[in-house]
Amino acid sequence: MKSKVAVIGAGNVGASAALYIAERGLADVVLIDRPEMDGMPQGKALDMAQSAPLWHKGGKIEGATDLSAVKGADVVVMTAGFPRKPGMSRSDLLKANADIIRPAAEAVKQHAPDAYVVVVTNPLDVMAWLFWHTTGFPKHRVIGMAGILDSARFRAFLAMELGVSGADIQAMVLGGHGDSMVPLKKYTTVGGISVADLVPADRLDAIIERTRNGGAEIVKLLKTGSAYYAPAMSAVEMVEAILTDQKRLVPCSVLLEGEYGLKDLFIGVPVMLGGKGVERIVPLKLDAADQAALEKSAKDVAEMIAELKS
Ligand code: NAI
Ligand code: 2OP
Repeated sequence: MKSKVAVIGAGNVGASAALYIAERGLADVVLIDRPEMDGMPQGKALDMAQSAPLWHKGGKIEGATDLSAVKGADVVVMTAGFPRKPGMSRSDLLKANADIIRPAAEAVKQHAPDAYVVVVTNPLDVMAWLFWHTTGFPKHRVIGMAGILDSARFRAFLAMELGVSGADIQAMVLGGHGDSMVPLKKYTTVGGISVADLVPADRLDAIIERTRNGGAEIVKLLKTGSAYYAPAMSAVEMVEAILTDQKRLVPCSVLLEGEYGLKDLFIGVPVMLGGKGVERIVPLKLDAADQAALEKSAKDVAEMIAELKS
């Protein structure tokens, strides 16, 4: 039987993710938005379904405005939520998106109790924690998407710098999804060659700085929203790894219980992602500067979780 993926939030990231999943023939897809948007997810889904004959792929794509449509989903991709708008404080965004996450998580718990969940909504690490906390799902089934996107941006910028294929660049960006993310130079390679042998130190630092601001750079260009093609593709990499048991070694935001000296929060670390979700958290011996940067990033996430709890 074909797998089912429910994408909650039929906006830019959600609709793009639905399209990539359907185009790859990975699963049947249901694209869900809120009741006030009735017609929008159905219309987008119908449009995608009409392009399916051109991809030569089968599979159903439907739209819905009732969260019960997650029923029977093997994987749920949570993209519903607001991006931060001018004049909105971090706390305002936290509260607004928490109010969207909680009922969605309750619906997934009720209608798709065995699903794996890929959380995309920002602030990412906190919303992934809240989804996990609200469902009470085992920790290997709730996974935040950020590290794959941040690493892909780092890889793309290095590819532009060197004029080589990004496919040959391996990179690992840890930490929270924000400007305190932790790109690991030591584990960045181009065709197996250490990046330090190919890119001068000052250029590498500039590329890392651009990676940290990768989301903001797109917001500045778009003016009316944030990035969605690369974020959607990054979430679909995770969906594919789970549905096809790929055992990918990628950075994801997961619950830590002492690993990396951190606990009771979600943050980006290397994991093995496969048919059982987070099958393993991969320990790395970080150098002192990277460990300190990870701890600083974790402090920011912990403060936001504390704010939500209060
Ligand atoms: P968007 O505004 O295009 O789409 C959001 C959709 O969520 C809208 O269609 C809205 O109607 C829907 N929605 C709101 N409340 C809902 C509810 N209760 N139930 C169902 N649907 C609901 O925004 P976009 O660009 O798709 O971004 C979505 C979220 O993803 C934002 O929070 C954004 O900051 C975050 N994001 C996270 C990234 C990451 O790396 N983790 C990367 C890119 C975006
Ligand atoms: C990004 O990194 C806004 O989190 C989003 O593009």
